[in-house]
Amino acid sequence: MEIQVNNLRLFFLDEGAGEKAARAPLLFVHGFPLNHETWSSQIQTLSATHRVIAPDLRGHGKSEAPPGPYTMEQMADDLKALMDARRCGPVMMIGHSMGGYITFAFLRRYPKLVAGFGLVCTRPGADTPEGKTNRENLAQRVEKDGSIAVVDAMFPKMLAPTAYAEQLEVSENVRRMMLATPVAGIAGASRGMALRSDSSDLLPTIKVPTLIITGANDQLISPKESESMAKQIPNSSLHIISSAGHLPSMEKAGKVNRILREFLTKNFA
Ligand code: MLT
Repeated sequence: MEIQVNNLRLFFLDEGAGEKAARAPLLFVHGFPLNHETWSSQIQTLSATHRVIAPDLRGHGKSEAPPGPYTMEQMADDLKALMDARRCGPVMMIGHSMGGYITFAFLRRYPKLVAGFGLVCTRPGADTPEGKTNRENLAQRVEKDGSIAVVDAMFPKMLAPTAYAEQLEVSENVRRMMLATPVAGIAGASRGMALRSDSSDLLPTIKVPTLIITGANDQLISPKESESMAKQIPNSSLHIISSAGHLPSMEKAGKVNRILREFLTKNFA
């Protein structure tokens, strides 16, 4: 489905138990430079029991790609506008990587709309000065050479090293998603991530049940980041998934679905 929010055409899925379902809906926020399909298995499985909303963020997937930079706050506001338009109250919000940066911005702005929190392969900190320079360099390379430049830079680190040979379909899907992300979207999100502020101060203040998932072989964001977040967020549970890289929702989909289902039953039954 598509909707016009914040002067932007946003694509999203809204599936499952319907608007009157008593349980908190699940809102899945994908990472960079990907789209809602990274959550396909979770959407399919959990929509049997929950309302599940999964947008393509601005500049990604089938959503419009206006010029950037896209700040995390702006993308959080897109989620809020989508929730308002879909009449959807507090959600369990689950963010992957850049999606996690956006959920931190959302939590700071709209704490009452977050009933539960999921942080997958993400981190609270801002970019280092070197990281910011790398973002700008990547944006410029993509603007010059096209989306293939982000594939060259990031695809080899997206999955666990063994997954490229052992999970050909997952690997091909990830590459396809990256390549299909528009140049303006990649550049806009890259420059927006460089502008993001440090969210570490939020961690001890998070009151809602929080699920933290990471891949033991994540080559992009160290599992140590998740361990550290788990120590600082009071009501959190941590799962480190063996043999998974930066995309456990695809590499170990069944395992992630079971963890999510258990978490939902325990906290929102
Ligand atoms: C992501 O998967 O969203 C990115 O790796 C995040 C980042 O580049 O910091």
